[in-house]
Amino acid sequence: MSQLASTSPARILVVFGTRPEAIKLFPVIHALKADPRFECVVCVSAQHRQMLDQVLEIAGIVPDYDLDVMQPDQSLDALTARLLTGLGRVMDEVRPDRVIVQGDTATAMAGGLAAYYRKLPVDHVEAGLRSYNIHHPWPEEVNRKIIGSLASLHFAPTATAQNALLKENVDPSRVHVTGNTVIDALHWVTGEIERRPELAAGLSRLEESFAGRRIIGVTSHRRENFGEGMEQIAQAIREIAQRPEVAVIFPVHLNPNVRKVMNERLTGLDNVALIEPLDYPHFARLLSIAEIMLTDSGGVQEEAPALGKPVLVMRETTERPEGVDAGTARLVGTSAVTIVSELATLLDDKAAYDAMAQAHNPFGDGLASGRIVELLAREIG
Ligand code: UD1
Ligand code: UDP
Repeated sequence: MSQLASTSPARILVVFGTRPEAIKLFPVIHALKADPRFECVVCVSAQHRQMLDQVLEIAGIVPDYDLDVMQPDQSLDALTARLLTGLGRVMDEVRPDRVIVQGDTATAMAGGLAAYYRKLPVDHVEAGLRSYNIHHPWPEEVNRKIIGSLASLHFAPTATAQNALLKENVDPSRVHVTGNTVIDALHWVTGEIERRPELAAGLSRLEESFAGRRIIGVTSHRRENFGEGMEQIAQAIREIAQRPEVAVIFPVHLNPNVRKVMNERLTGLDNVALIEPLDYPHFARLLSIAEIMLTDSGGVQEEAPALGKPVLVMRETTERPEGVDAGTARLVGTSAVTIVSELATLLDDKAAYDAMAQAHNPFGDGLASGRIVELLAREIG
């Protein structure tokens, strides 16, 4: 008796390596793994080691491949070389039908390129972000333009990102507005914390010691801010910490170029807590207790508005203009004078604070991963 051939699931290789990619891809991985139309293979480069593992653990993801490429204070060229050869080898072994990359890191760019060299279709999550300045953010603006030039499907988080791709003559039928998966991740982790509050309880001692103070949450890590920019950021924090009603909670990125400056300039201040990078539930807790976020991060620019927290962005440009346009984010650059004066405005002028805190979240509705998976299913037929 003849049997009907059953269609085998499409093999999707998901490639990532840093904390933000892991946060923005775990909802997609969860959705792919729950869907019988797909076989989801996970490859981490471990461009970040500890900060990646924090996310993998909370999201319950065990990679099928782990290249463990991170080296201390790694240079962009040596990192890229390790990534390209390592990821290529994995692709030759896995032989995926499609490869997913996210955002604009060295891992995403090298993953895209290695797939392209094998004529594999590359699907780009968080496509179309552009600052139109190849030095800010550096090297991310060029990384995502490279991925944009070779991608098969472009999952744009917003209409602004979609329009940027259309202006670059990308085939409109290949570009889809999905929302940003970071909002899916934030909803997921919020639900986990509601179910298991102990997941985010590790800040309680700090919260007690800062009780009654106005919390400013800080993150900083951009390569283009190394040197003078980091010095200015540290100076701004020293100055704002002179206000006794303020407390700063600053989980310091593991990059030695960040830690050296912050440890030298900010250690020993009573109301400045320099702490280790927080896992995602604890960072979500910090977002919820902070009155203001001060950051040069991409992801935090998206999450803080979703929680109604004004965000001051320590950059010259942003590839996420939606937050600025909606009034939830303000570009303040990296001069200490400007940062301190913008913080003081938010602390002293309730109307200015409320105008930012009540603004709309432009980055998505938390359903992006489901849309991405359906678009992939349509693509594989
Ligand atoms: C990388 C990305 C950047 C992203 C950022 C998120 C590139 C070129 N840069 O920048 O786009 O915004 O991640 O955080 O892809 N380190 C550790 N442990 C860790 C992570 C980092 O020790 O878990 C230290 C190592 O010394 C490492 C250094 O930080 O060499 C830099 O890491 P790298 O991934 O090259 O650059 P980031 O500045 O983190
Ligand atoms: N984040 C975290 N712990 C921290 C700081 C940040 O989990 O101590 C999360 C944050 O919620 C956001 C992401 O990390 O989702 C941002 O990563 P990062 O700032 O390193 O990179 P970027 O977004 O700038 O690429």
